[in-house]
Amino acid sequence: MHFNKFHSACSLLILAFITTVSSNVFSQSHPIKRMGSLNTVSFDDAWLFARFGLQADGTRKEEPAGLESGSFNDAAWQKLSLPHDWAITGPFRIELDGGTGKLPWKGIGWYRKHFTIPAADANKKIFIDFDGAMANAKIWLNGRYVGTWPYGYTSFRMDLSPYIQPGKENVLAVRLDTEQWDSRWYPGAGIYRHVWLVKTDPVHVDHWGTYITTPRITEASADVNIAVTVRNHSKKDARATVRTELYELDAANKPTVKVAEMKATVTDLRAGEQKVIESQSTVNHPKRWDIETPNRYVAKTTISIGGRVIDTYHTPFGIRTLEFTARNGFLLNGKRVQIKGTCNHHDLGALGAAFNLSALTRQLKMLKEMGCNSLRTSHNPPAPELLELADKMGFLVWDEAFDAWKKGKRKNDYNQLFDQWHEKDLTALVYRDRNHPSVFIWSIGNEVMEQQDVALTKHLVDLVYKADPTRPVSNGYNDPDGGRNSGAAVALDIMGVNYFFGQQRKWDADPRYANKPTLGSETSSCVSSRGEYFFGTDEYKNWQISSYDYAKPGWGCSPDEQFRTNARYPHLLGEYVWTGFDYLGEPTPYNSDETNLLNFRTDPNKKAELERQLELIRKNNPPSRSSYFGIIDLAGFPKDRFYSYQSHWRPELPVAHIFPHWNWPERIDSITPVHVYTSGDEAELFLNGVSMGRKAKSAGKDYRLVWDSVRYQPGQLKVICYKDGKQWATDEVRTTGEMKKLEMSPDRTVIKAGEDELCFITVKVTDKDGLMVPRSHPVIHFSVEGAGEIVATDNGDATSFVPFQSHDRPAYNGMALLIIKAKKGVKGKVVVKASSDALMTGQTVVTVQ
Ligand code: GAL
Repeated sequence: MHFNKFHSACSLLILAFITTVSSNVFSQSHPIKRMGSLNTVSFDDAWLFARFGLQADGTRKEEPAGLESGSFNDAAWQKLSLPHDWAITGPFRIELDGGTGKLPWKGIGWYRKHFTIPAADANKKIFIDFDGAMANAKIWLNGRYVGTWPYGYTSFRMDLSPYIQPGKENVLAVRLDTEQWDSRWYPGAGIYRHVWLVKTDPVHVDHWGTYITTPRITEASADVNIAVTVRNHSKKDARATVRTELYELDAANKPTVKVAEMKATVTDLRAGEQKVIESQSTVNHPKRWDIETPNRYVAKTTISIGGRVIDTYHTPFGIRTLEFTARNGFLLNGKRVQIKGTCNHHDLGALGAAFNLSALTRQLKMLKEMGCNSLRTSHNPPAPELLELADKMGFLVWDEAFDAWKKGKRKNDYNQLFDQWHEKDLTALVYRDRNHPSVFIWSIGNEVMEQQDVALTKHLVDLVYKADPTRPVSNGYNDPDGGRNSGAAVALDIMGVNYFFGQQRKWDADPRYANKPTLGSETSSCVSSRGEYFFGTDEYKNWQISSYDYAKPGWGCSPDEQFRTNARYPHLLGEYVWTGFDYLGEPTPYNSDETNLLNFRTDPNKKAELERQLELIRKNNPPSRSSYFGIIDLAGFPKDRFYSYQSHWRPELPVAHIFPHWNWPERIDSITPVHVYTSGDEAELFLNGVSMGRKAKSAGKDYRLVWDSVRYQPGQLKVICYKDGKQWATDEVRTTGEMKKLEMSPDRTVIKAGEDELCFITVKVTDKDGLMVPRSHPVIHFSVEGAGEIVATDNGDATSFVPFQSHDRPAYNGMALLIIKAKKGVKGKVVVKASSDALMTGQTVVTVQ
């Protein structure tokens, strides 16, 4: 059923829903490790790696012939486990492009894996599932070519069955080539997401072979439909019974209460045939999936032949309604939800692109804490785990396919693949993700060059509808006038506008778009460096950016200005801030990437000004290698802006946040503006107990309170915030003493053994009273004894060339991050120390169990 059916004059109602994941052992008392086919096992361990072509130091190493051959001697190759990003070890090189992180990610990587499959599996189908491999993957098994998947962000499956040797050693070889890939941000390099081996009976549920929809939902009951694609890969006809049961699914992925059972279908499948079997059932008193109460269900589908279950497949899903309106924003389960979203790239800071569940979980927890309720996967398909986390944690997801179509922004970006691959890539994204309740909008692109192309837009929208007609399709426009004038935007269900929001009134007056739900697919692009404050008109110094949160590129605006604009257009769906986290690459304004000019394609004066700035940057070659856009820095430390968003997005939470810090010995008696973010509406500031005045916000206009004539005196700066005349929240900063100690706070005290879990330890440089010394940068040495080891260190400084793997790192404005993991196969205590000359050593203990 096409959701456009639900279009009313000004509303688009989608009654639908869904999900996907995968597992090993099903029992109602066991959590499902991986959704999808039950017979899915991790294939991450025991790989061998070698790098050819461009090397980390810029030299070239010839790629010999025959690396795919089963008999090639790979004994000297590097042993590793996936996920793996071969470029994150650097080194950072000043001559490399800051736009992609100044890291040597271009090269040719080969991965090989020796493995055996029991002889008893000779009749099984054997598949390998890659969640993502960067880029241009080519795969061989036992020297025979299996297939290719060039787009590094797509999850894909290869059928190994024709080439496998059951009972003997098999050698899988994967060649990746990032020399033939160009990006506007750091893409990473390697098999950077998980890999899975799937063994099935010849008759089985196809890859991403279930599709769940909920076409009718009321308080009393919800209809649940499942379409199961069953394949008979054998040479014989088969009579199979397809049966689906529905369970509630808890946060640990454990199916709990059985809520419904679909009528079993008996079907005859000829040899080689594939059939879609549809079944329905009703869930009584459905527990809705919502951002506050992300209730999930799981469908357990079995296929039996002759009474024997030969395949089991799990599909998590949620029951919720989506409604997108042009006049009243977005409604989830009938209730208005303002989109308070962030755009995020896929890298995980010091870990590079190598996926890690605890690292992503840590990020999403911070975003949730800030009040963010939606994620835009800019500008490509995310790791599948992101969707599962979003389902569990209650985030809505704008799931995006491309940053370029046929005409590239860079020479070797998606434009090289578009003709041959766009249908496969787009369909793979929708098939993989269409059962996730969190996914609520599909995006076919970001600022693509063909924004005005009516036919191409429609073609891509239709491809999405073919795979999933239950959700709207959007596109992020940086030339919204062009897209609207040409009529290309007519094909979309939702208009996504990057930055140029202020023209909304004009667009609302255009009858073609008056009923088009619209949202800010990218907003603000404020830039700042954590803990840096410059005064007067200065915003930029030493390749850092002042954290008073006014700095922005020409197309951007401060969060405050964006909130004011949003307030003028309350009927819009909301916004996606660029970005939640700093990311590797794109260090605007110290970025010489000329694709930024595209933001001014219709304004020659602004374009010329930006061209001049870019020329200057090229000449100066800044050391900047990661972005300044993040509300949270690359190490995961909130910048001041975090509290601006938290105050605005969580008005019920008492928030008060003063900045800057109060260590300015060189500014005694100089004017040092004090700003406060608060969810209150008034506040009084005190310097050393003396009132600096009480200020009130004007609703819809002020998103911070400013005392701009405070003359600096060391001591204590305290703010008392009020809401509706009552005291609401307070904050204070103090001038600190000299640095004396290193304090460590781990984000967990227990690491589970054998699960790739990471522990993130924040290190603060403090004075004798435990106050963080804001402008301190001592070099810290990290050491770990016992059951753990160091994975990476960081400090959030966008200009640091210290490798992320280094055990020595300077603090940046008083803070540093240490990431540790458990040693393989070891349990027990991990004693972690941080030391620095003349400072008291910090210590913390974490247990691996
Ligand atoms: C947008 C673009 C993003 C990022 C951002 C920086 O135009 O879509 O990918 O480049 O600008 O402000």
